[in-house]
Amino acid sequence: MSIALIILAAGKGTRMESDLPKVMHELGGAPLFAHAWNHGRALEPARTVIVAGHGAALVETAARKIDPEITVVVQEDQLGTGHAVAQARAALEGFDGDAVVLYGDTPFTGEKTLARLVEARKSADVVVLGFEAADPGRYGRLVMEGDRLSRIVEFKDATDEERAISLCNSGVICAEAATLLELVAEVGNDNASGEYYLTDIIEVASMRGLTATAVTCDEAETLGINTRGELAEAERIFQARARREAMANGALLQAPDTVHFSADTVIGRDAIIEPNVVFAPGVTVESGARIRAFSHLEDCHVSRDAVVGPYARLRPGTELANGAKIGNFVEIKNAQIGEGAKVNHLSYVGDATVGEAANLGAGTVTCNYDGVMKHRTTIGARAFIGSDTMLVAPVTVGDEAMTTTGSVITRDVPAGAMAIARAEQVNKPGLAVKFFARLRAIKAKKGK
Ligand code: UD1
Ligand code: MG
Repeated sequence: MSIALIILAAGKGTRMESDLPKVMHELGGAPLFAHAWNHGRALEPARTVIVAGHGAALVETAARKIDPEITVVVQEDQLGTGHAVAQARAALEGFDGDAVVLYGDTPFTGEKTLARLVEARKSADVVVLGFEAADPGRYGRLVMEGDRLSRIVEFKDATDEERAISLCNSGVICAEAATLLELVAEVGNDNASGEYYLTDIIEVASMRGLTATAVTCDEAETLGINTRGELAEAERIFQARARREAMANGALLQAPDTVHFSADTVIGRDAIIEPNVVFAPGVTVESGARIRAFSHLEDCHVSRDAVVGPYARLRPGTELANGAKIGNFVEIKNAQIGEGAKVNHLSYVGDATVGEAANLGAGTVTCNYDGVMKHRTTIGARAFIGSDTMLVAPVTVGDEAMTTTGSVITRDVPAGAMAIARAEQVNKPGLAVKFFARLRAIKAKKGK
């Protein structure tokens, strides 16, 4: 059975107190809605439709980046969850299969749960994901008759008797797409909120002789984000899970609670992650690599047995080959560092290619920006860059070439050559002593 995902994400999220639409707030370095999408993706959906409203343009741009196949439709006015689903009609034209409705602000409904939901469609026309709520509060209640779901009643519209039900609606629903669209078209808004409730499709279905049932999951999977406090709590949960997963996959985290992951971080087996490391989005660390304390990595690739840090910053586009060594207070950006190459101290290497086993001394700087354009630096294999070399790009240093300490390299250095580009030293006998004596004399005069 082919699957379509419909992710509801039109809400403003008033309680976030933000100019950003709620689903664009970050969790694990990814927009909130991407988490629902990521779990839904395990169902291998043939189509994905995001129903956006507030800040739809931002949502669309972010969705494109995640997967260009996603369709974003705009719900101009937020008239309710049923109305939101109806907006997916055109995007689902010609689609034959089941639709799964997810909420963009609910990041933890897992793949296994969604698989059970879809599986249950074999025994009912509509399947709702419910949960036993510790405190049912204002959730919609699932009114069951045996294992049949007869209707969902919203808290506002519920009788005291119905409010006593603890089985609640998560919002996740699965039905054949065509049926779902027919059902939402029949839902009215004659209720306490004056909204078109998606939940009303259960009663409409039953009037049509269709069956509905519920599958349940742990309440933790249904956690929705409405406030910054809830987002922070979700981040805590996300991080705890990411750490457990990294360890389960064979990474050594010396102080797990201090390591910060993104949703797409990949850490290889036997990689060692020291305390206080931040993995911003887009990082892959291969087996056996070691990330030393207080390093910040973003959108980069660290190959086997490479060592990074302590206090290193790998910025987007950094590629470290096997066994490369990046030491303390080194920043690398958009650069390939060859196998076994070393940049061990206080350096900036940007827009560069560094050959295998090259050695960049302390304080090496690639001067890659002329104030208008960026230029590349190429350093050959086994080249030796003396400490405090300024490499004024575009510039190439050949294989096995050397630059002497303190050089400002503005022209290419041929392979095997030694470049000396610094002022020659002059020693003036006794001048230091005379110089300071004069300064002291001036100061003494002023003091009077
Ligand atoms: C909804 C359910 C309720 C359930 C609860 C679980 C309905 C009528 N009620 O209530 O049974 O217990 O979720 O959290 O479905 N949205 C749109 N467009 C709209 C309205 C909502 O995209 O016009 C989106 C929101 O951005 C949000 C989701 O749908 O992601 C749910 O909307 P929300 O207003 O939070 O519904 P609840 O009142 O919480
Ligand atoms: Mg809600």
